[in-house]
Amino acid sequence: MSSDAASSPTASATAHENPISLLAMAGSQRRRSFNRALLRAALERTPAGVRVREFDPSRLPFYDGDVEAAGDPEVVAEFKAAVHASDLVLLVTPEYNAGLPAVLKNAVDWGSRPPRPQAWDAKPVAIMGATPGRLGTALAQRSLRESLAGLNARVMPQPRILLAGAGKLFDEDLKLADEATLDRLAAFLDAAVAWARRFS
Ligand code: FNR
Repeated sequence: MSSDAASSPTASATAHENPISLLAMAGSQRRRSFNRALLRAALERTPAGVRVREFDPSRLPFYDGDVEAAGDPEVVAEFKAAVHASDLVLLVTPEYNAGLPAVLKNAVDWGSRPPRPQAWDAKPVAIMGATPGRLGTALAQRSLRESLAGLNARVMPQPRILLAGAGKLFDEDLKLADEATLDRLAAFLDAAVAWARRFS
């Protein structure tokens, strides 16, 4: 993988637990993206026994049935294989016009395609998002949740991370600087890993 972080163990699993493979994606490529900053904060705090792989969804071409009919492009095959191989997918979504950004929807769409079972089937997923706005990406998360539920993904219902007023929570270097949010993030990650373990 050229532009993605290589798969790497962040900590060793405890003796009695298998490692969890986490595939992480953020729906913004903006240099000073709050959502990428939130993802970075999360990946710095993954619980013990989690192996992280990041995938940049902007590498995927826009879904096109003709492209698919000619055979999945290499990056699409790589993406589908990465979702299949993961025990948990962490999606970090901005909100655009009361919905999710095209780049994440496009990743959902490619993952939903054959071969069967499609990549989202029975897949544990955790969703979070950040916005300078007031609703914390609630509408984008609802839309993403709905699409994934239709694909039989196991989207963690609770807890949720809906970061409103993101501009005040990150410092100049885009480090998540708010203690209460950091605590919630740690609890969210613990819950997401426990959620994945229920199905692995
Ligand atoms: C936005 N933004 C936005 N925010 C929100 O809370 N609800 C919304 O419906 C929208 N709609 C919207 C549409 C478009 C086209 C843009 C470009 C932006 C603001 C958005 O949350 C903000 O730009 C974030 O900073 C984008 O996420 P990143 O890039 O910081 O991760």
